[in-house]
Amino acid sequence: MAKSDSGSDRQSGPTNLRTLLTRLAKDHQDHLKLCNLLEEIADSLPHEVDKSKCQTAINALIQRGQVHHALEETVLFPQMLALAGNDQDLRSTLSRLIDEHRTDEGHSDEVIELLGTLFANKRLENAEAAGYLLRGLFEGLRRHIAFENEHVLPKARELAAGSASGV
Ligand SMILES: [Fe+2]
Ligand SMILES: [Fe+2]
Repeated sequence: MAKSDSGSDRQSGPTNLRTLLTRLAKDHQDHLKLCNLLEEIADSLPHEVDKSKCQTAINALIQRGQVHHALEETVLFPQMLALAGNDQDLRSTLSRLIDEHRTDEGHSDEVIELLGTLFANKRLENAEAAGYLLRGLFEGLRRHIAFENEHVLPKARELAAGSASGV
């Protein structure tokens, strides 16, 4: 985002940031529902799997990877760093979260493939490994989202409020 001393530009960044934060918080609620769905599928392995839940989870996982991470990495995190004056602690925290995004995306691709197998009624080679894969994804996502909800989004709101008041 371009820097400017004009009052209108000082206002537009934080206002947009607050709108983005509302969107991301809503995404997190949806992703936690997805985690619950993945847990239900894991608990139903190997013989009680609901195929419609697999299809819903596949669609949600594809959408999550494409949109939410991009909003955080290309819009939220750069705006936070700009408002925080390139705070090094914040930079390392956000860098760790970006690494977690790549890990989540790798796990997500494997889970999408697994869910496709379940949806097609194909036999699982190893139900225990499938359950482990699902749990690894939703447990990792829950930790990541909890950290962002407890630390990152409040910090971003604080930075937006400070900037809007001219601090
Ligand atoms: Fe994230
Ligand atoms: Fe997030």
